[in-house]
Amino acid sequence: MDGNGRWAKQRGLPRIEGHRRGVESVRTVLEAAREMGIRYLTLYAFSVENWKRPQEEVGALMGLLEFFLKRETAVLVRNRVRLRTIGRVCDLPDSVRQLLDRAIEATSSFADHTLVLALNYGSRTEVIDAARAYAAAVAAGKEKLNDSSWTTFSRYLSTADLPDPDLVIRTSGETRLSNFLLMQSAYAEFVFTPVLWPDFGKADLAAAVAEYTRRERRFGQTSDQLTPTG
Ligand code: FPP
Repeated sequence: MDGNGRWAKQRGLPRIEGHRRGVESVRTVLEAAREMGIRYLTLYAFSVENWKRPQEEVGALMGLLEFFLKRETAVLVRNRVRLRTIGRVCDLPDSVRQLLDRAIEATSSFADHTLVLALNYGSRTEVIDAARAYAAAVAAGKEKLNDSSWTTFSRYLSTADLPDPDLVIRTSGETRLSNFLLMQSAYAEFVFTPVLWPDFGKADLAAAVAEYTRRERRFGQTSDQLTPTG
């Protein structure tokens, strides 16, 4: 969800105004994704590297998360959307964690749509955490090192019960992954759009999905293997 700061700067506003508008885009995109039948939507809301931002901005982002959770939990329940998180949520402020726990609990029985918030998330820390847990399982005799495979190891990632992403969208013209779902995106399609996140709306999501549907996903195979008739 990139470009909040630039959106604000272009208007002579403080950066936090961009984030505030970004929260409105979250609401719009969540609704649009549900209407389009997208079952899993993951939003990169706060990375492990984002703690390096000015303290005032970090505090404001935590405040916006609280604001979002207070306002949207009832909406998630109404729309039967399950909330999940990935990332080291234990390091977030207590106030945010309590609201997250409440929203996760209130939506835990829903199965059709899942909103995943990546919070204090980074792929490299996720892999380290998974490797530690996997090593402990091997030491305890619960896993066999010789049987190691991606299927077994990936069960130790924070996304263990989530499907790999089919489509990754990055806004604001940046063409980096910035430590987001690096392992899980191995076969994802990428759409990079110049639109700044606060301006990203239903039409932009629809355009990205349309672009996705035009791609041929070969997963290492040839085109002819996928469509033998050519
Ligand atoms: C990147 O834009 C955006 C973030 C680091 C924060 C995103 C967070 C929110 C929209 C609010 C909280 C989230 C939820 C789910 C309610 P940037 O500031 O790096 O933009 P810039 O590159 O233009 O400076």
